[in-house]
Amino acid sequence: MPQIRMLTDLTENDRQDASPQELPLVEIRGLKTHFHTHDGIVKAVEGVDLDIHANRTLCILGESGCGKSIMARSILRIVDTPGKIVEGSILYRPGDGRSVDLARMRAGSRDLRDIRGQDIAMIFQEPMSSLGPITKVGKQIVETILLHRKVSKSEAKEQAIELLDKVGIPRPSERFEAYPFELSGGMRQRVMIAMALSCQPRLLIADEPTTALDVTTQAQILDLIAELKDELQMAVLLITHDLGVVAEVAEDVAVMYMGKIVEKGDVFSIFENPLHPYTRALLNSVPKIGQAKQHRLPAIRGMVPHPLARPSGCAFRTRCDASIPGLCDVKEPSLERCGPAEVACFLKQEEVGGD
Ligand SMILES: Nc1ncnc2c1ncn2[C@@H]1O[C@H](COP(=O)(O)OP(=O)(O)O)[C@@H](O)[C@H]1O
Ligand SMILES: [Mg+2]
Repeated sequence: MPQIRMLTDLTENDRQDASPQELPLVEIRGLKTHFHTHDGIVKAVEGVDLDIHANRTLCILGESGCGKSIMARSILRIVDTPGKIVEGSILYRPGDGRSVDLARMRAGSRDLRDIRGQDIAMIFQEPMSSLGPITKVGKQIVETILLHRKVSKSEAKEQAIELLDKVGIPRPSERFEAYPFELSGGMRQRVMIAMALSCQPRLLIADEPTTALDVTTQAQILDLIAELKDELQMAVLLITHDLGVVAEVAEDVAVMYMGKIVEKGDVFSIFENPLHPYTRALLNSVPKIGQAKQHRLPAIRGMVPHPLARPSGCAFRTRCDASIPGLCDVKEPSLERCGPAEVACFLKQEEVGGD
């Protein structure tokens, strides 16, 4: 088992250490990404507000189909057709005092391509889908470097080998000559990370980067991402459905349900005092250390509704034991501050008291 930091190990100090001081690197406001399909409009992302800070890891949690990947792909503007950002902004601050709205940049424009790869890089669940199968890994990294940096071929090769070494690939000059299929899944994911880092991005987006790997390799890859984050002062947006991973690496957490953020806050408050019934249900569905093996895990009641059959009012109400008829099925709760976290639930907003 990977070393998972126990939830109780998170202290008040962690939270203070983690408080962001600077303007967010990325500020997402009112983001909506829809798919116009024959059967109707799939509202994959339906009004997301989110801040991503330098040198912090933000974990996005939520069951499959909640819009995590489409939200991440919207930032990079790589949503497949017929998906489209229909509303909202994605303000990116490159660090020179300027800010650009990624949501408004022309798809395929030079500026957007420069940001993608150079400023913001993404790694995916299955590295084989992004690594070319018939090109040696070294050459692939060299090509990425040459695309974004003004260096000679031999300098690029030197940098590529350094990167392979940095991501913990043994005998990097030998591996430079390997084809992707000659490497294990863990090594391939390391190559992907090396490629993503080749341009020293300010934001690394990792979409379930370790799901396909065994637990030991998972832990190593996550440690690697966390180390590199500290070293390069990167922002990391990590999508995962593994709460152990969240407890281990996150500073900030956002929980998504049916295209919306239903709760967000620092990792300490989310784990210590989850407010939204969905967050609670997610947290309850993990085995606790020491829990008897035969104890059946409480799954979340019901299933995520079909994207075209969005419930009225609060989308989670059909699975929520605390749902209040006449309120939760009529009005939609917005995200409001409740203590250190923000939550979109009428019940909790009333109980805890917003500002
Ligand atoms: N190409 C597409 N066409 C139509 N709907 C899509 C497409 N891609 C994703 N979706 C829908 O968008 C929603 C969010 O998907 P996704 O972001 O992949 O979820 P997650 O990453 O949280 O599992 C889902 O309902 C999914 O069915
Ligand atoms: Mg996904």
